[in-house]
Amino acid sequence: MPSPRDADPDLQIAMDDVASSINRTIERLLPETDLPEAPLYEAMRHGTLAGGKRLRPFLVIHSANLFNVDTNRSRRVAAALEFIHCYSLVHDDLPAMDDAALRRGQPTVHKKYGEATAILAGDALLTLAFEVLADPETHEDPRVRCELVRALAQASGGHGMIGGQMLDLIGEQQEFDLGTISRLQRMKTGKLMAFACEAGAILGKAGEPQRRALCNYAHDLGLAFQVTDDILDVEADPQDTGKDTGKDEEAGKATFVSTMGKEGAKERAEMLISQAKAHLHIFEGRGQKLKDLADYVLERRA
Ligand code: IPE
Ligand code: IPE
Ligand code: MG
Ligand code: MG
Ligand code: MG
Repeated sequence: MPSPRDADPDLQIAMDDVASSINRTIERLLPETDLPEAPLYEAMRHGTLAGGKRLRPFLVIHSANLFNVDTNRSRRVAAALEFIHCYSLVHDDLPAMDDAALRRGQPTVHKKYGEATAILAGDALLTLAFEVLADPETHEDPRVRCELVRALAQASGGHGMIGGQMLDLIGEQQEFDLGTISRLQRMKTGKLMAFACEAGAILGKAGEPQRRALCNYAHDLGLAFQVTDDILDVEADPQDTGKDTGKDEEAGKATFVSTMGKEGAKERAEMLISQAKAHLHIFEGRGQKLKDLADYVLERRA
């Protein structure tokens, strides 16, 4: 079966471009070491360099491109966000959370390096993200750096990804209505995706209407992304996703699929993606890459 990326070779090229440039940036920020604490760095490198679709970096770089931001800057911000995303996955896979053995087609960090090292590797990735944002190499204007730090902290913390992860765990024990599930998903996944687009606007010192358009796009895209993640958990091939399937039902998680059924969830994702694309009309043809990515999110098999 042809993958959606086969159907859109331009998008595939653009995604591969982002993936290779972000891998180079991560390599530079997280080099191998022979220090006595080297296992920490090996675990951080395993958690960040062993694959991944690099969708959040794509959003940072292509949002920043709308405002002609220097790519050296947007790549550093993209790497910082990817560090947060990867830390969230390292901790999400721990036995105390989703207890997953496979990630990106490889053993999870705790399977390979042990639980204590996985916890520390996640912690160190979280702090490294902020070190990168606060570095003058990311932007010479301290106000821009401060705005980036604040926005990423808000997206990652109790009102963002971590709060969403807490709700996700509570949802294993408690029935949630659709409104609460939407809020959970917007927090655990949508907030980091929204930061990706917001970061492009911050770096580009964009005006309010452009910021709002990107923020609305990213919120709908982020929610649709988590809905499709939940659909893939029930119907994907682990060979494609690189992670075990059936985990959500096994844990009794509250998802769109568990409340609306697979078909209802698919319709919801379609509606969200068309809404996401509509928010970009303000950028006219320049928003095409972000629109193509939205189509990919809907059709993805991985
Ligand atoms: C998985 O994210 C976790 C969710 C927020 C659903 P991705 O599907 O973007 O994971 P990678 O980075 O490509 O492995
Ligand atoms: C994880 O959601 C979202 C995070 C904030 C890490 P999932 O638990 O559904 O992600 P996968 O399916 O393990 O990638
Ligand atoms: Mg989880
Ligand atoms: Mg999980
Ligand atoms: Mg999932």
